[in-house]
Amino acid sequence: MSAVLLDGEAVAARVRAEVAERTARLRRMGVTAGLGTILVGDHAPSARYVAMKHADCAAVGIASIHEHLPATATQEEIEAVVARFNADDRVHAYLVQLPLPEGIDTERVLLAVDPAKDVDGLHPVNLGRLVMGAPGPIACTPAGIVELLAAFDVPVEGRHVVVIGRGLTIGRPLALLLAMKRPGCNAAVTVVHTGVKELGPLVREGDVVVAAAGQPGIVTADMVKPGAAVVGAGTSWQGRRLLSDVDDAVAEVAGFITPRIGGVGPMTRAMLLRNAVAAAEAAAGVRGSAHAAQPGSWGRRITPQ
Ligand code: GUN
Repeated sequence: MSAVLLDGEAVAARVRAEVAERTARLRRMGVTAGLGTILVGDHAPSARYVAMKHADCAAVGIASIHEHLPATATQEEIEAVVARFNADDRVHAYLVQLPLPEGIDTERVLLAVDPAKDVDGLHPVNLGRLVMGAPGPIACTPAGIVELLAAFDVPVEGRHVVVIGRGLTIGRPLALLLAMKRPGCNAAVTVVHTGVKELGPLVREGDVVVAAAGQPGIVTADMVKPGAAVVGAGTSWQGRRLLSDVDDAVAEVAGFITPRIGGVGPMTRAMLLRNAVAAAEAAAGVRGSAHAAQPGSWGRRITPQ
């Protein structure tokens, strides 16, 4: 079997076009949507990620407000920037790029972020809203995965999704989302992780499998039900080589599969933009504004040509 490629770049391009329309509408109201970033230290991959986010913002008409602190910045200095961004009306949403340098209490910093400006959707208030099914920003990678599956009409509702990984940024919020009674979700969800003795029999039950463990090749072809959709969301680096949680041979068994590059990554970045414009719309009093992964956002199919 040759799997259909879940082309995240194509879907992300549609999402960016939607965000660009929304920022244009805000501009006509006299509002420039603004995304803030806080980078501490000189961790090269973090600096690259932040630069990419700024480039994405520029492409869709979102202004970037960047603060770069030295690696020697103290807890108080970082929190002072957080307080400034909370109070700055130009910054509708922002993120503190992780990881923070050793010795910094990351949780304390993240707790200080105004939940209304939390573009990552990872503030405890927003995770709590997700648990309750209340509106709010949703973590970008889970939101992007649901959007990607919907865009390709992968059957999810009423099906069995196996999520491999229970991390706070992907596995845990994704499992909550997929189990909710919403378009593109409403699935039976099993979460498996490194504490599970035998993954194979459980993963093989999945009509959809999302690998978010960060363990290269953890999903092998023999674990996948023929025709299943397989999403590789966990990555790790071997030197400069990006490794996937999904073994290449899985493409011979799966019905749908994400490419190693251009699958989930572009979707995560696109959802960040959608969360940012939604925060700007909320601040401007636009009614019916949709965060990433809210009813009415992924309810609209974005089918690549
Ligand atoms: N570091 C790596 N990925 C991310 C992300 O999505 N958000 C934040 N804040 N930091 C990161």
